[in-house]
Amino acid sequence: MDYWWITVVVTSIFLSAIILYRIIIRSNSSTIRSSIYRIRSPLPLGTLGWPFIGETIEFVSCAYSDQPERFMNRRCSMYGKVFKSHLFGSPTIVSIDAEVSRCILQSDSKTFVPFYPKSLTELMGKDSILLINGSLQKRIHGLIGAFFKSPHLKAQITRDMQNFVQKSMGNWREDHPIYIQDETKNIAFQVLVKALISLDPGEDMEFLKKQFQEFIAGLMSLPIKVPGSQLHRSLQAKKKMVKLVHKIIQEKRNSSTSSSISTVPKDVAEVLLNDTREQLTDDLLSDNMIDLMIPGEDSVPVLMTLAVKYLSDCPAALQQLTEENLKLKRLKDQLKEPLRWSDYLSLPFTQKVLTETLRMGNIIIGVMRKAMKDVKIKGHLIPKGWCAFVYFRSVHLDDNIYDCPYQFNPWRWQERDMSSCSFIPFGGGQRLCPGLDLARLEASIFLYHFVTQFRWVAEEDSIVNFPTVRMKKRMPVWVKRRRDS
Ligand code: HEM
Repeated sequence: MDYWWITVVVTSIFLSAIILYRIIIRSNSSTIRSSIYRIRSPLPLGTLGWPFIGETIEFVSCAYSDQPERFMNRRCSMYGKVFKSHLFGSPTIVSIDAEVSRCILQSDSKTFVPFYPKSLTELMGKDSILLINGSLQKRIHGLIGAFFKSPHLKAQITRDMQNFVQKSMGNWREDHPIYIQDETKNIAFQVLVKALISLDPGEDMEFLKKQFQEFIAGLMSLPIKVPGSQLHRSLQAKKKMVKLVHKIIQEKRNSSTSSSISTVPKDVAEVLLNDTREQLTDDLLSDNMIDLMIPGEDSVPVLMTLAVKYLSDCPAALQQLTEENLKLKRLKDQLKEPLRWSDYLSLPFTQKVLTETLRMGNIIIGVMRKAMKDVKIKGHLIPKGWCAFVYFRSVHLDDNIYDCPYQFNPWRWQERDMSSCSFIPFGGGQRLCPGLDLARLEASIFLYHFVTQFRWVAEEDSIVNFPTVRMKKRMPVWVKRRRDS
């Protein structure tokens, strides 16, 4: 009786511990709890790491290092190609297995939806194609994809690309280094903005370029929105861009009602405006126009820059690619014909060089999805609410799939099939990149003009792989104009 209060204290501590445990579990992820109790199948092997931060720090520090595969390789040797972890605030099933990855990518939005870090979702806005799901995503994806595939747009991109490339290369001097990464960013951004909203070089383009730099810097920043933070600055820059894009969309709406004729759309904004099935709001249009500029500043210029880097390091490939492009140039000069988009894409070795660059470069390291229900793929369970991280890099650099995977070898594509599930630089399934043809076309045009007009010596530089792929020193090269072309 004397110790009744001890019983009360012990019982309350015990009950508080249970309540606290439930709160932590629920706040961390309500679904871990449900997964533990509801799911009978075992989870893939692996560890969730530290409370809250999980294994994020180790993943990020490896990704920044010159051996980004270390994180995956260590776990793969302990747990296999599908394992559990805790990354970017979420319990995650990581897949570096080509077939499991393909199944995840091909699932519909009832099974998986995209998952991005908070800063990215804040900046992209809720209407971004990268975030929306279901019929609206399919519709916008279809419209954009069809437009990017159209011969009409490819012809326009080819003309614009040739103009911007010639203008840029016309200013290159032999007595100071040319930064390929900067040059390609400038070219690809202008070409894409023209294809999206028909904006020509000038004051508005310069304004957009400046704001876009500020916007993109926040995509992988800390999710803190206070004045002075990167995310806040990026959101301000986005507001200014939205204002400009709204103005352009309004002008398009006005001119289409005044002429009341549905003409052939000349840019992506017009494709979406002309859509009669979905009433797309101005906010949705401008959010998407801005998000679609991201590959113009990032992925496409990186593809061109990496191709130059790998070619600089592989003289045999450079020689074969140069001969192929010079042959086409001489033929077209002889016939006095301009180059068409199909000419650029008809160069087989150049395409192999781009394929190999995409494999080795891993411009997008992978994609994350959130499971909407318990999913079992090849016997691996992905519980509802968990993330699935499809990590492309390890698939593309797997020595069971590719011989000497770290060696730049465009010739390997003579025998290989590009459409297999072990080559996924553009993702797959319903979210397969609609810009893949465009990316290849732009890179082919850039390479053609570069190798037919110049010889070059590249300065020592290295590839940084995280948070986005880029060259540490912006890929400086010393050029000499060719006399033999
Ligand atoms: C080398 C260049 C490029 C690479 C490596 C690349 C890669 C990717 C990847 C991996 C995805 C899939 C994302 C996911 O599954 O969540 C994707 C989606 C997308 N890409 Fe690209 N991309 C490139 C160029 C482009 C270009 C030029 C455009 C055109 C503006 C573009 C527009 C898009 C869009 C709109 C999506 C989202 C599709 C959807 O969710 O429905 N990309 N890209």
